[in-house]
Amino acid sequence: MSRSEHPVARNGQHRSDQGGFGRVASLGGGVIGRSWTALFLAAGKSVAVFDPDPEAEARVRRAVEDAWPTLTRLGLTEHGDPDGLHFCADPRQAVEGAGFVQESVPERTALKHEVYAAVEPALGDGTVVASSASGLTLTEMQRGWRDPARFVLGHPFNPPHLVPLVEVMGNERTAPGVVDRARAFYESVGKVTIEVRREVPGHVANRLQAALWREAIHLVNEGVAGVEDVDTAVSAGPGLRWATTGPTQLFHLGAGDGGLAAFCERYADSFNRWFDSLGRPHLDRATAERLVAGLRPISEAHSVDELSHRRDELITGVLALLRNGPRSPS
Ligand SMILES: NC(=O)c1ccc[n+]([C@@H]2O[C@H](COP(=O)([O-])OP(=O)(O)OC[C@H]3O[C@@H](n4cnc5c(N)ncnc54)[C@H](O)[C@@H]3O)[C@@H](O)[C@H]2O)c1
Repeated sequence: MSRSEHPVARNGQHRSDQGGFGRVASLGGGVIGRSWTALFLAAGKSVAVFDPDPEAEARVRRAVEDAWPTLTRLGLTEHGDPDGLHFCADPRQAVEGAGFVQESVPERTALKHEVYAAVEPALGDGTVVASSASGLTLTEMQRGWRDPARFVLGHPFNPPHLVPLVEVMGNERTAPGVVDRARAFYESVGKVTIEVRREVPGHVANRLQAALWREAIHLVNEGVAGVEDVDTAVSAGPGLRWATTGPTQLFHLGAGDGGLAAFCERYADSFNRWFDSLGRPHLDRATAERLVAGLRPISEAHSVDELSHRRDELITGVLALLRNGPRSPS
């Protein structure tokens, strides 16, 4: 694969103010909102933040400071200015004059509706509003709007300043072109977008994570392997390949020159047998306790902060390589 073919590399060079979105508003300065804010600032946006928690401003400023060296290492701060950050006393003030609004308030339908009702009258004509929601559906959130034409799902992966993926979704109540404009905005700040075409719980990527974790739990429950070994089987095996491309393209490379068609023919019986024997565990209390016990050698040896730091350092290294790595011979 040539470097330019990888979506991360393709979106590595963001353009300042691509698509003319101008100022950005970030509603909610929690785990997700403050990470979004750091990314938007790095991309040269002026960012207005509203969060009613009096501690939020200090937390957001600290998060921006912490994220900046990583964003710089990834080449994402060329146009950036951490001083472009402004805190607002109410959500209307934050969205006034903003071309793009990212909503990252807690995952409660009534609260999200309250926020939409508050900001809707203050939005400019062309402003696009996206929700970070992981669990709520677009339809549920649209009920909080008088007119949801400008509103899309813009679901990131934690932490949004680091993990490139954003899942964007509109539906028949979304105005034509709004999904494309949202995708153009995200790509202008260095993100990689996909479009979710139909409403399903968990969108796309969380469903994929759930499918894999379900089988990981099944293998532990059945005594096939321990928690640490199952994790290693992912991170030291297929997980490494998945950072370069997805499973279907990888299998295209798994049966020589015949490509994917040959792979399907050769391995259909094996996969169908495996599909038929996959587990359907539930994350009940006993299962959770088994997983927690299985992880204890790691969780007792290292703090969550240490493990998170290591994860983020390694992700940064992989991303830097994907952006700047060797081109394939042409
Ligand atoms: N945490 C994750 O891993 C993750 C990943 C992807 C998407 N999301 C989604 O992002 C959204 C935010 O999640 P989070 O993890 O950042 O939650 P969080 O609880 O860390 O942060 C929410 C923030 O919103 C603030 N808030 C409360 N009421 C508000 C209001 N009326 N207006 C503005 N701000 C308000 C809170 O003070 C808090 O700082 C949720 O919809 C969640 O599903 C979370």
